Amino acid sequence: VMMKNTENDINKRRTFAVIAHPDAGKTTLTEKLLLYGGAIREAGAVKSRRANAYAVSDWMEIEKRRGISVTSSVMQFSYNGYNINILDTPGHQDFSEDTYRTLMAADSAVMVVDSAKGVEEQTKKLFKVASLRKIPIFTLANKMDRQAKPPFELMDDIEQSLGIKSYPMNWPLGSGKDFKGVYNRITQEIELYQSAGAHGSTKLEKTTLGKSELPKEILEELEILDEAGEEFNVERILRGELTPLYFGSALTNFGIEPFLQSFLSLTTPPVARDSNKGKIDPGSSDFSGFIFKIQANMNPAHRDRIAFLRICSGRFERGMSAYLTATKKKIRLSQPQQFMAQDRVIVEEAFAGDIIGIQDPGIFKIGDTLSETDQELAYSEIPVFAPEHFAKVRIKNSLKRKQFLKGVTELSEEGAIQVFRRPNMAMEELIIGVVGVLQFDILSFRLINEYGVEPIIEPLPYRYIRWIDEGYNEKTFMITLDTLLVKDNDERLCLLFQNEWSTRQITDRNKDLKLSEISLRTSNI
Ligand code: G4P
Repeated sequence: VMMKNTENDINKRRTFAVIAHPDAGKTTLTEKLLLYGGAIREAGAVKSRRANAYAVSDWMEIEKRRGISVTSSVMQFSYNGYNINILDTPGHQDFSEDTYRTLMAADSAVMVVDSAKGVEEQTKKLFKVASLRKIPIFTLANKMDRQAKPPFELMDDIEQSLGIKSYPMNWPLGSGKDFKGVYNRITQEIELYQSAGAHGSTKLEKTTLGKSELPKEILEELEILDEAGEEFNVERILRGELTPLYFGSALTNFGIEPFLQSFLSLTTPPVARDSNKGKIDPGSSDFSGFIFKIQANMNPAHRDRIAFLRICSGRFERGMSAYLTATKKKIRLSQPQQFMAQDRVIVEEAFAGDIIGIQDPGIFKIGDTLSETDQELAYSEIPVFAPEHFAKVRIKNSLKRKQFLKGVTELSEEGAIQVFRRPNMAMEELIIGVVGVLQFDILSFRLINEYGVEPIIEPLPYRYIRWIDEGYNEKTFMITLDTLLVKDNDERLCLLFQNEWSTRQITDRNKDLKLSEISLRTSNI
């Protein structure tokens, strides 16, 4: 008999994603959170990268070189009685589809901004993706130990660039070499730090002082904030309409622990999630969840494939089975694992809010729902972003065709690329679609490193895709010269266009044709 989960197990859970423009300090922050959570004893095993590192910042091999942060895209740790799941998101917009999928599994987001640079290009794109989910977003104005923009300017920048107002939870005391700590607006205390030397590799103690010790100019700034700034409003924060803003330095640890404490107390435990059966209460005793990410070859020695599952309700127990509702088959969820800093550990039990990895023998798809009791349950679908770049992909050595097809298939099942074929054409020629061109680099890198095949990738001029919903007749179909008819992996016909103008040309010439801009994965309904 399964034990019922207690409300407390769920209320203690916090599941969030970190988003940031490359170099803003996402890796450093993650590492420091692990440090304060006791998951690592010393921070700073990191780095040696630089030159175009951002280009492949999500990239395992390369990530490994720079340390812990990211071979696994999710990590668990506990702090002050909370069980925390941190999800890593790629910093580059070319992987925004991956970011979106990851955000589907998160209940809130932490946005790291470089205080000297302000809101950068990728921050804008990532914020846009995060705000689609309407989850609370917490902002860390990082790198205050460097010469930073004045705090009011940063607030203005956030509002102008992202369209969201901020509520400073603390206020910096100086910046650059003079950054001494922060004034906490909630506890009304000054939190002072003293540098512990090399990259804050160990925890810092803070000294607290009363508000009366604040210098005059800071008191004046705080007065302006109280009078002209936003009101503190938890509901607006939870709806993602107001972002709590914290100043700090992930490198020196100044302000990082209070940030963590405040963030954990403000952000929500797992909330009820939408499904085809209405909202599913996380406290329900039936286990359920969905797959939001699939990753092959995480451990090159084992050539395994792991499906990442966000638990939405109930309690997971090692050895349990659940319906894969897309096929209505009951499946044993084998080798459940969680990721703690550098280690993977087998999960004995997990609760709503937790992210676990399970072995995927090739049966799961992104967006699949798993349920202990309900064969029909389906959580909201995860949309597939329309690719904007296409290329013809072949292999140099045709003897390796089998490995090539395996690689391409697996990578498309992971959602790393989308595969198209021209009807009635040989399998040798595949058309690959991606949202951002860097995905081609990843494709090439992974085919070489994981499958031992060297691809030839020839860019194609197409920029738009439309799925054919209805009205296609092979005999009467009129196509323009700059348009290509292809089939996606689900055998759905689609058209690739070089410009928007030709999309209209096609519908003018083929009156019954109905086209759509997105393809929802239909497997789980
Ligand atoms: P990312 O994951 O967002 O890409 O950023 P990451 O944490 O890797 O940090 C990028 C660079 O910024 C690193 O420097 C890191 O040390 C530095 N950094 C992060 N947080 C802070 C901070 O609060 N203050 C300062 N001054 N620097 C910070 P690097 O040059 O790549 O490495 P390193 O050799 O300096 O460590």
